[in-house]
Amino acid sequence: MDNSDGPATVQRPIISAVAIATKIPAQPHEGDALTKVISIANQKGGVGKTTCSINLGGALAERGYRVLCVDMDPQANLTVGLGVSLSDVHQSMADVLSEDRVSLDDVVRATQTDGLSVAPATLELASTEVELFTAIGREMVLRDALAGWAERQFDVIIIDSPPTLGLLTINSLVASNRVIIPVQTQYYAIKGLTALIKVINTIKIKLNHDLEVLGLLPTFFDGRTVLAREMLENLRQLGDHRVFNTMIKQTVKLGEAPLTGKPVTEYATASAAARAFRDLAQEVIELG
Ligand SMILES: Nc1ncnc2c1ncn2[C@@H]1O[C@H](COP(=O)(O)OP(=O)(O)O)[C@@H](O)[C@H]1O
Ligand SMILES: [Mg+2]
Repeated sequence: MDNSDGPATVQRPIISAVAIATKIPAQPHEGDALTKVISIANQKGGVGKTTCSINLGGALAERGYRVLCVDMDPQANLTVGLGVSLSDVHQSMADVLSEDRVSLDDVVRATQTDGLSVAPATLELASTEVELFTAIGREMVLRDALAGWAERQFDVIIIDSPPTLGLLTINSLVASNRVIIPVQTQYYAIKGLTALIKVINTIKIKLNHDLEVLGLLPTFFDGRTVLAREMLENLRQLGDHRVFNTMIKQTVKLGEAPLTGKPVTEYATASAAARAFRDLAQEVIELG
């Protein structure tokens, strides 16, 4: 789909347009730096991966970056959360990764948010994963699909991963140079981290030397509970990996935003959740 006719035609209130215009100096110039590819990964479901993908994407787009969110989860929550109706999706990441090798620019579409595009998923992606098992170079299919057009077209590519450590997540990690790991601070969530870090380290050694863990992102934080504060302390004491200064607090705004098809930075632009994702974007930019 032609990406150029999307966001530009969307009416946006003048105030937010001005606010965004004033932030544009942060925009990188074309050819300035290599495209950053960031996986959002954790094999545990419901930890805030999709929420982080959409809203970090929104916050970076607001800063003037050209952002692509890639949906690698057959549940397609990212796709729907960015306002795409699944009945409208005729070609998706399932086709890009399948033997047909549909090219990425045929599936990427603009969202309602300026600067933010999405490569949609559908439930079919689950069968694509099964097909991948027997494919040669099966871990590298997404990396190859992102090479070229997408790297020229976008400054940042954010890949939302499914809640498994299967081939879809492995493809995400192989295609990325950075990983953000959302970790729920509500109950004992550290346990699964060891398995994830092990997979990341193996991929780094065998398939993708460029892969770095950008940080652990505390999510669903509720500062009133002792458990949440203890969890945060445990995360910091793990020691091996940076814990972002930004924490994503538990808030209804983050549950509501996907129903509007917009990132929280646009749906509730002055909310604490929007500010948190702007802070996260700032940390991500600073970490490089
Ligand atoms: N900080 C938060 N506060 C409240 N609800 C949240 C928060 N983060 C995510 N949610 C909601 O919790 C559910 C799970 O989050 P999601 O991002 O889909 O997790 P995952 O992608 O890891 O499965 C979604 O309905 C989402 O809207
Ligand atoms: Mg998800």
